[in-house]
Amino acid sequence: MRNIDRIYIDGAFVTPHGNRCLDLFNPATEAKIGTVRLGDAEDLRIAVAAAKRAFPAMARTSKAERIAMLHRLRDAVKAGSADLVAAMTEEYGAPAYFIAFSVQNTASVFEVMAASVESYAFERTAGSSAVTMLPLGVVGAITPWNSNFGFIATKLAHAIGSGSTIVIKPAEQSAIQTQVLLECLHEAGLPRGVLNVVNGTGPEVGAALTAHPDVALITFTGSTPAARIIQRSALDTMKRLVLELGGKSPTIVLDDADLDAAVPVALMSGFANSGQACVAGSRILVPRSREAEITARLKLEAERLRVGAPADPEVRIGPLANAAHWERVQSYIRLGQEEGATLLTGGEGRPQGLDKGWFAKPTIFTDVTNTMRIAREEIFGPVLSVIAYDDEDDAVAIANDSDFGLQAYVLSSDEDRAIRVARHLVAGRVVINGAPHDPHAPFGGFRRSGLGREIGAYGLDAFLEPRAILKPAR
Ligand code: NAI
Ligand code: MG
Repeated sequence: MRNIDRIYIDGAFVTPHGNRCLDLFNPATEAKIGTVRLGDAEDLRIAVAAAKRAFPAMARTSKAERIAMLHRLRDAVKAGSADLVAAMTEEYGAPAYFIAFSVQNTASVFEVMAASVESYAFERTAGSSAVTMLPLGVVGAITPWNSNFGFIATKLAHAIGSGSTIVIKPAEQSAIQTQVLLECLHEAGLPRGVLNVVNGTGPEVGAALTAHPDVALITFTGSTPAARIIQRSALDTMKRLVLELGGKSPTIVLDDADLDAAVPVALMSGFANSGQACVAGSRILVPRSREAEITARLKLEAERLRVGAPADPEVRIGPLANAAHWERVQSYIRLGQEEGATLLTGGEGRPQGLDKGWFAKPTIFTDVTNTMRIAREEIFGPVLSVIAYDDEDDAVAIANDSDFGLQAYVLSSDEDRAIRVARHLVAGRVVINGAPHDPHAPFGGFRRSGLGREIGAYGLDAFLEPRAILKPAR
């Protein structure tokens, strides 16, 4: 049992003013593993005040100072890797392969930002004017539960890189992970007030953050419905927004694809993070001429994927994050059948042999049309839709016919052809033939997948604004 009863303000772990408690669970066993004492709007105000006091000094830091802070944060995360893995395993339950990537990526985010700061032009000229890229002030960050470490680290890295200070409202159900990460980050010895973290609910602490007059920018990762509420709340004080939201990403299997290579990539793009990934390739677009062959392979290989607890290194799909989310995913599995799609594999209920834990069956629907709700709405679980297309133009049209535009995948035996198709796709990232994660590539989406981009110079641009100084001619 771990009882998280502190929040992090002004460089110290402090007892919150809020006194409501929330239970924390292991999603693989449903066992209660701890509690978190939630902060409230008063705690948020104190955190913003600390960040505001720390801002002027942070804004004046040099590139070298910011890079040194980022390197210390990277080292602190690396040093705490084993504790981070243990916390994420217990409280989130993702497969070990995914947890290993997440923890390594959390350190790498700081490293990548250090390189971005090094090459970023903070001082520029435009005409005869001197232009300086300036931080905006206190940044407010709101993060979800599906990759707690990575999202906190990314948002903190952007704040440091830009010379801002930050107040983070993390997902309340990930409080053990947040605490273990904070214990690492604390070791980096940032100046007081640069990093502040207040546990609390979205409607209380999140809403207080988005409305606070001393917060200049909100960087949010989460659902599109929550983003709408945040946008409205940010309007009155003209806050800048970076929004990284949901997706319904297409995986286009071209008609020349080698199925030995393509089918495993299509499945793991769809089932990544147990399907709880904004980038999940949840619509698999297949050529009608090869539909029967491809769906047979998808079924065969999906049924080979091991579902279970993270301790087993062979597991590819873990539990869903919580009971309410499990119910929500089940409702989509029912909906698909009501809409007339065919269950290729999976279905409602728990996988055989897993009576405890919020496990869903890896589910694939065929005979899906792109107008069905299961093809249009983000399910955020291991539920994929196979949609047949007639030719390449049709594939591109279906891929782009979405409210979202976060990520896309193209699979082909001919890489140049895949890249030609990629150039027609409306997506923040297009991944060709299972290319590995590129930590330097900009991240974010078109349409309802969000606003702005994270990572590298694109990420810094969103956290900075130019001031031009115009001088009379001599
Ligand atoms: P959510 O978007 O409601 O929560 C994400 C964060 O926003 C949490 O920290 C939450 O406390 C905060 N929040 C919620 N309401 C808020 C408000 N009114 N003002 C300020 N902050 C607020 O996501 P939730 O409820 O955890 O998951 C629901 C669905 O959202 C998922 O099933 C999935 O479809 C989607 N989702 C997408 C994510 C992504 O990575 N794009 C991440 C998490 C969820
Ligand atoms: Mg919600």
